[in-house]
Amino acid sequence: MQPTLELSIYTLLRMAFIWQLISLAIYLVGTLTIAAFLYDNFKSLISIIKALLEPYFQPQLPQTLLDKFGKWAVITGATDGIGKEYAKELARQGFNLVLISRTKEKLIAVTNEIESEHKVKTKWIAVDFAKGREAYEQIEKELAGIEVGILVNNVGRMYDYPDTLDMVPEDLVWEILIINVGAATMLTRKIAPQMKARRKGAIVNIGSGSELQPMPNMAVYAATKKYITHFTQALERELAEHNVTVQLIMPLFVLTKMNEYSSSVMRGGILIPTASSFAKSAVFTLGKTSTTTGFWTHGLQYFFMKLAPLRLRTLIAHELGRRLRIEALEQKKLT
Ligand SMILES: NC(=O)c1ccc[n+]([C@@H]2O[C@H](COP(=O)([O-])OP(=O)(O)OC[C@H]3O[C@@H](n4cnc5c(N)ncnc54)[C@H](OP(=O)(O)O)[C@@H]3O)[C@@H](O)[C@H]2O)c1
Repeated sequence: MQPTLELSIYTLLRMAFIWQLISLAIYLVGTLTIAAFLYDNFKSLISIIKALLEPYFQPQLPQTLLDKFGKWAVITGATDGIGKEYAKELARQGFNLVLISRTKEKLIAVTNEIESEHKVKTKWIAVDFAKGREAYEQIEKELAGIEVGILVNNVGRMYDYPDTLDMVPEDLVWEILIINVGAATMLTRKIAPQMKARRKGAIVNIGSGSELQPMPNMAVYAATKKYITHFTQALERELAEHNVTVQLIMPLFVLTKMNEYSSSVMRGGILIPTASSFAKSAVFTLGKTSTTTGFWTHGLQYFFMKLAPLRLRTLIAHELGRRLRIEALEQKKLT
């Protein structure tokens, strides 16, 4: 009997030890996962707080966006929505502007409006980004001699309303691919070298919160925005050693004509800011944080969405897309 009892006590001790090791491993993995999750979610806020405190501890550093990046800002999609409000906010901070968009009359109206309100120089370039390569040749010629301090890659195209891929006109699918992926990529390709050479400048890419998970009924749009996320974050690393800032902005719904297909989105509210409030807040984060939703209530929404597993987020996104599609179709019938 004695050896069996000894063996069983030994076995029990061994099992207890193994169990303790497993518990420790679970504890460590859990702690690391939570730490990584919290870091990911709060790094934007922490870097803003750090940047706000910096002037008190390092007053010798450049403080304004003009000091940090230079005198000229180039903004695409600048005649409406977020791009127009970025232009107005940067003009308010003293930047000379190059506005790039499709419609000449709107470009003239916006540059006149900005020049009447602010003492800055403006220039406009009318191009259709959907035309691909030729648009960039024209922009390159017209930008010759301009030292670009900030490039805001804002232009973007969504479906006219959420729908399944087979129902979206083929031309529109091409446009979305060419504009959403092409414009940010090719303008960065053209303008980053001069920033690198001066060791000064910022590139702001307007992505979208829709990149957080696949978006059935907005499949192409959301996928192009995922491209913007990875493209921007890779460029951020490539250009950091050249002292060029690269920032990713991922807004959720903002009150602009892009969402006119939905009267419920266009009602606005605390979760859906106006383009002006959004742009003021997003410009405030420039130079302070590299990846942000740009607006505090969008940050909160993004945080809570991220708590759900990808599969659940995709199901919710699908349901949202389905409802927005039905609403848009009903709205179309009434008009
Ligand atoms: N609004 C939102 O809820 C939301 C949410 C997340 C992300 N975003 C992103 O934010 C960015 C701006 O969106 P927004 O809502 O402000 O857009 P918007 O109100 O529809 O304005 C789009 C701007 O882009 C210009 N544009 C459109 N197609 C063009 C083309 N082919 N060539 C040249 N310019 C063209 C328009 O010029 P014209 O006036 O001449 O057409 C206009 O100035 C986009 O990248 C979008 O994906 C928006």
